[in-house]
Amino acid sequence: VQCPSTPQDLAGLKVVVSAGPTREYLDPVRFISNPSSGKMGFAVAEEARSRGAEVVLVTGPVNLVDPEGVRTVRVESALEMQSAIVPEAQEADIVVMTAAVADYRAAAPKGEKEAKTPGDVTVHLTPNPDILAGLGEGQAARPGRVLIGFAMETHAGVERAALKARRKNADFILLNYPTREGTAFGGDDNQVTLVRPDGSFEDWPRLSKREVARRLLGEAVRVRKVQTS
Ligand code: CTP
Ligand code: CA
Repeated sequence: VQCPSTPQDLAGLKVVVSAGPTREYLDPVRFISNPSSGKMGFAVAEEARSRGAEVVLVTGPVNLVDPEGVRTVRVESALEMQSAIVPEAQEADIVVMTAAVADYRAAAPKGEKEAKTPGDVTVHLTPNPDILAGLGEGQAARPGRVLIGFAMETHAGVERAALKARRKNADFILLNYPTREGTAFGGDDNQVTLVRPDGSFEDWPRLSKREVARRLLGEAVRVRKVQTS
């Protein structure tokens, strides 16, 4: 049945979305991060809410207001993001990882600010957990839960994204490139390619992030139908 206004095709479903960058402190006043604006994840959360889902949005530090009707959890580091997402994802039907999770954190963050010293410094970084891959490991026990990732690549995008989808057990990944003008980091539009684990892909035109969110959730519903049929 086609509804005249917004279809409530996500009613009764729980959608968990991550957004924004993470911040990995080296000391109380210095951190490693990236330019993610959070706009893509907030658009997914708002779109899912408007289609009737119960939505939990876990976001790193961004300059955006909590979307209406969405439970928004603010975190800073990748470890905090993982702690917030993992329990929520247990009963989720759709998980969308738009967050630009920092790959590394300081192995031994300093408790106090230390003055700079002349010359080069070396910082010991240790890998952060891969949140999406961790959720993917539990996929066999969660039939019908759709896992979606994002990836930004500068080259060999489709191959690298398909490899990531396979490695992390994601149902699909939306790939974008940092070089496309007005899109990706900070922009209001996004131009993405949907990449499946088998390497098949679809180029979407340049769209508003809200429209990307609309299509992404439509694809998630289709994947869910196949998995649960
Ligand atoms: N991701 C995650 N946890 C991490 C890193 C990434 O959950 N520690 C998720 C991102 O939210 C995204 C997907 O994995 O949905 C792909 O992120 P990306 O950085 O492209 O993948 P990586 O495996 O970190 O690969 P790369 O070495 O290319 O950065
Ligand atoms: Ca990464």
